[in-house]
Amino acid sequence: MNEPLLEKIRRLKERRNAVILAHNYQPGEIQDLAEFTGDSLGLSIQASQTDADVIVFCGVRFMAETAAILSPDKTVLLPEKSAGCPMADMITAEQLRELKRKHPDALVVCYVNSTAEVKAESDYCCTSANAVEVVDSLPADREIIFVPDQHLGRFAAERTGRELILWPGYCPTHVVITEQDINIARQKEPDAVVMAHPECTEPVKHLADELLSTGQMLKSAAKSEVKRFIIATETGIIHSLKKQNPDKEFFAASERGICPNMKKITMDKVLWSLEDMQYEIVLPEEIRIRAKKALDRMVEILPKV
Ligand code: 13P
Ligand code: SF4
Repeated sequence: MNEPLLEKIRRLKERRNAVILAHNYQPGEIQDLAEFTGDSLGLSIQASQTDADVIVFCGVRFMAETAAILSPDKTVLLPEKSAGCPMADMITAEQLRELKRKHPDALVVCYVNSTAEVKAESDYCCTSANAVEVVDSLPADREIIFVPDQHLGRFAAERTGRELILWPGYCPTHVVITEQDINIARQKEPDAVVMAHPECTEPVKHLADELLSTGQMLKSAAKSEVKRFIIATETGIIHSLKKQNPDKEFFAASERGICPNMKKITMDKVLWSLEDMQYEIVLPEEIRIRAKKALDRMVEILPKV
């Protein structure tokens, strides 16, 4: 650990009355630095409740945008401007408007991994932790459009028995985890529980024992009597899993499961972010207000687990 750098960050954080939030896929040292680590839902709730003046969001752009939408009176900083989510960019607001024109009576649920403009076109937002509960809460006689992740959409459709109109988006980090990876990992660790993220492909999900958001994986591992786990999601989460459960073992289903955008945040960039108050997330007010309606519903509908 780089102590002088850490000390500078701590001092500056105090001076700015800032809070550092980090997603579970962040590099280990960034997770250790943050006041709060969590999944997209947990971090959105933290961002909406903090009394800090500044939120340094260690994650990707849509997460920092979500914090800025929910907390308009705060300054939200993303330490690396180019940290985006390729899945969020797989649907534009115009493409969603076109889909809505084809299904004029449908309600729109968008995964939080989406742009602010797409959220503004949506009725509800959800995360992987509450996609099932959000879809389940919708009137049975309404069609539902679900964007952009087809894999999370199929998971929500399967669990709720609802038919969803899906968009063919996907997470490039999760789709490279294969059935073969799970089978090989199970051969090596036959007693392990396999936890997979709903962004994984359907064959991988059907081989898993539990399908959970990253925050739910942390809760489930802590509660479980089991000592060995195979983790099918971005490998950054293994850091927190090991730290919070020193008596248990965690194996990545695939070392290819790395999100390059999540790894763009470094300690130096966190310091520069606080020094220069960059990169501030600023959204057009008209988009922010419309997107907030969908996001408010997301933070109200809590997952059952
Ligand atoms: P959660 O941490 O909400 O499960 O999300 C995973 C993800 O891909 C975030 O980009
Ligand atoms: Fe986007 Fe996938 Fe990276 Fe999450 S892991 S930020 S969904 S590319």
